[in-house]
Amino acid sequence: MARIYIKTYGCQMNERDSEQVAQMLMERGHSITAREEEADVVLLNTCSVRDLAEQKALGKMGMLRALSHDRPIVYGFLGCMAQSRGSTLLKEMPHLDLVVGTQKFHRVADHVDQLIERKRTARFDDVRFSIVDVDEEASSQSTIRDHVLAERQVTAFVSVMQGCNMHCTFCIVPYTRGHERSRPVQEIVDEVKVLVDKGIKEVTLLGQIVNLYGRHEFVALDGKSPFVQLLEALQVVDGLERIRFTSPHPIGFRNDLIETFGRLPKLVEHIHLPLQSGSNRILKAMHRTYTAEKFLALVDRIRAVTPNMAITTDIIVGFPGETDDDYARTRQLADQIGFDNAFIFKYSRRQGTPAAGMDHQLPDSVKEARNHDLLELVNSWAKRRCEPFIGSDVEILCEGPSKTNQARLMGRTRGNKIVVFEGAPRHIGALMKIRIARSTGFSLYGEPVG
Ligand code: SAH
Ligand code: F3S
Repeated sequence: MARIYIKTYGCQMNERDSEQVAQMLMERGHSITAREEEADVVLLNTCSVRDLAEQKALGKMGMLRALSHDRPIVYGFLGCMAQSRGSTLLKEMPHLDLVVGTQKFHRVADHVDQLIERKRTARFDDVRFSIVDVDEEASSQSTIRDHVLAERQVTAFVSVMQGCNMHCTFCIVPYTRGHERSRPVQEIVDEVKVLVDKGIKEVTLLGQIVNLYGRHEFVALDGKSPFVQLLEALQVVDGLERIRFTSPHPIGFRNDLIETFGRLPKLVEHIHLPLQSGSNRILKAMHRTYTAEKFLALVDRIRAVTPNMAITTDIIVGFPGETDDDYARTRQLADQIGFDNAFIFKYSRRQGTPAAGMDHQLPDSVKEARNHDLLELVNSWAKRRCEPFIGSDVEILCEGPSKTNQARLMGRTRGNKIVVFEGAPRHIGALMKIRIARSTGFSLYGEPVG
C-alpha cells in the first residue's frame, strides 16, 4: 500500500476536495503522509486564480522530481490548474503521471492504483504512460461528500454547489470549475447529520456563489430562495451549533436572505461579501452587475437587520484601466464601510478571461503601491473592529490548540474573530464565554468566565 502526500493550494473548496481524495485513497488501504520525503505518490491540488498560485505548484512539482531518483514515484496535478492546462502540463513536466480536473476528484483513487501497478510492472523500455482526466461529468457536485476528521475536530466544510456562471471578466473560475450545479437539500442535510454525530458543531457551506445555491435546480417557496430553504433545513439539525457560508455574491442578497439572519439563531453574524472595486466604471468592466451605491445600500440593509454583523471582503487593485481616481473611490468606499477584514489582491492576468485582452494593463509598481496603501487602511479598520470587544464577554466555539502557541486554546466568535486563551482539554468543542483583555488587531486574548 502506498504512502500518499497531498498538498493543497488555494481556497477552502480545494481543501475540501483534497479531503475527499484523501478519504477515497484511505478506503483503498493507502495512507496519507505529511512528509514528502517518504511519499510514494505526490498529489498537488492546484489553484489558478492568480499566476502566483500556479507558479508555486509548478515550482513544487519540479522540486519534488528529485524524490524519484531512488524509487518510482507517481506524480499528479489535481484541480483548477490541471483542468485549465490539461495535457499541456505533461509536455512541460515529463515526470508527471497524472492530471485530474475539477469534476473528476472521485476518480483519483482509481487512477493512482492503476499508475502504481503500471510502475511496479514497468520494464525499462516501456513508453511513458500517463493519465489525463479533465472531462465534464454530470452530478460531480455530489461526489464531494466524505470527510476525514481529526480527533476532536469541531468544524467542517460542506460543499453545497460547484461551478459559477457569473463570468466576472477577471476570473478564471468559471473556466476551471464549470457551470453552476447544486446538490439537493436532503443530501446536504444528511451529510451534516453524519458530521454532527461525529462531534462537529459548526459547518461552513461552500460554493463559488453560495447564496445563489440551487437557482437552476430548485424553486423558491413562500418567497424563500433555495439557499434560504437550505439554511432553514440546517437550523433544525439537532446538535449543530453554528452555520457559516462562503462566498456569496452581492447580487444574491435579497431580503429573504437578509431577514434570515434575524430569524435563524444558528446562522452566525459574519458575511464575506466580495466588493472587488468601489468604482462603477471598473465594476462594469469587471461585469460585477452592481454599483458602489448598491453595494453600500446592501451593507446598510444588512446592518439594519443585524447591527453587529462582521463583514469581510475581497478587493482587486490594478484591474486594467484602473485610474488613480478609480482607486481613490475604492479606498473611500472601503473606509466608509469599515470592513472587519479584507483580502486585497493585485490583479493577475489570467489567460482566456476577457480582462486579459483589455487595454491599459497596469505595471506591477502601480498595483504594488495601491495594494500597500489599501492594506494599511484595511488593517487599521480590522484593529478598530476588534477594540469594542476589549473588556467584554464573548461567546466562542473552542476549536483546539492555538496555531501559534500549542499551550493555548483558540476559538472563534460568531463574527469569526479568533480568540486565544488558556484553557483545559475539556473546553475543546464547547461553546463558552471568554472575557477579552486585549487585542493585537487581528486576534483577541482573554480568559474563560466562571
Ligand atoms: N466566489 C469565489 C471567488 C473566487 S476567487 C469564492 O468563493 O471565493 C477569490 C477572489 O480572488 C475573488 O473574490 C477576487 O477578489 C480574487 N481574484 C479572482 N480572480 C483574480 C485575478 N485574476 N486577479 C486578482 N485577484 C483575483
Ligand atoms: Fe469568479 Fe465572479 Fe464567479 S469572482 S467565482 S466569476 S462570482
